[in-house]
Amino acid sequence: MHADTVVGRATSTPSSAEKAVAPASAGASLIDGTALAKIIRGELAEEVRELHARGVTPGLTVVLVGEDPASAVYVGAKEKASREAGMTGETIRLPADTSQAQLLALVEQLNADGSVHGILVQMPLPKQIDPDTVILHIDPKKDVDGFHPVNVGKLLIGQADGFAPCTPAGVQRMLVHYGVETRGADCVIVGRSTIVGKPMAALMVQGGAGADATVTICHSRTRDLAAHTRRADILIVAAGRPRMITADMVKRGAVVIDVGMNRIADASTKSGTRLVGDVDFEGVRQVASLITPVPGGVGPMTIAMLLRNTVRAARRTLGA
Ligand code: GUN
Repeated sequence: MHADTVVGRATSTPSSAEKAVAPASAGASLIDGTALAKIIRGELAEEVRELHARGVTPGLTVVLVGEDPASAVYVGAKEKASREAGMTGETIRLPADTSQAQLLALVEQLNADGSVHGILVQMPLPKQIDPDTVILHIDPKKDVDGFHPVNVGKLLIGQADGFAPCTPAGVQRMLVHYGVETRGADCVIVGRSTIVGKPMAALMVQGGAGADATVTICHSRTRDLAAHTRRADILIVAAGRPRMITADMVKRGAVVIDVGMNRIADASTKSGTRLVGDVDFEGVRQVASLITPVPGGVGPMTIAMLLRNTVRAARRTLGA
């Protein structure tokens, strides 16, 4: 472990989730998203019990259009997690040839349904449906994905009463929980998607806990990517390219967050495939101080933050 050379990490007492994590055999310690998400989900279950006592059961409705296998897995996990937390988790499955008008009519119906506090339309959508139009129709107060322009605007302004997108919010929560010093740190984000890269930058550049960083966003047109990533105290990668970040691109002691989820061929496994991130984990763990694994890093945190947003949406119906 390179704790003596850590730049982006504070020396605070390890949290309970951190203690539960076995250190990596060489190099970096692991950020255990599964363990942290479990803690958060336990806290949320307690909040849900309080809401039950006040006559409210937080309800999340996920809409899945078509039969994309990866989306079906994600949606199943969201529904299961909602129910485990004591919430109402419903999935509405629509055929792949659903028209945009039909989907918009369903969204309007869910907007008007008082038992539904959070609405999530799983992306990607079939090509006959424009995702931006659909997002615009979701009531911003039920937009637990944080994709509606009202919530995007609130995030950018720094207004706390909106919903932040779940994956960036989960990453920030991991940084806070593991005592990573973000204030004044060089935070380099690889990837400029609307779901991860851009909102991640908006969160990290705000003032406050887990933020106050100096942020750089890199993307497919960035000249000399490695020159940027090598400066990073905190490197967040969400580019969708398997193992693109190698050890020579990472500063010794950096904190590395891998948002990538890529399924690659692997003849040695039963299924013939394997899930890998955007970071070459085995190489990068030798130089980083803290690193997220794939799977078991960012993924479980995304679901925990979705539940948190839904509980917040339900709480707000009580004016709390
Ligand atoms: N598809 C992949 N990730 C997400 C997400 O966070 N929200 C939605 N709605 N669709 C997704």
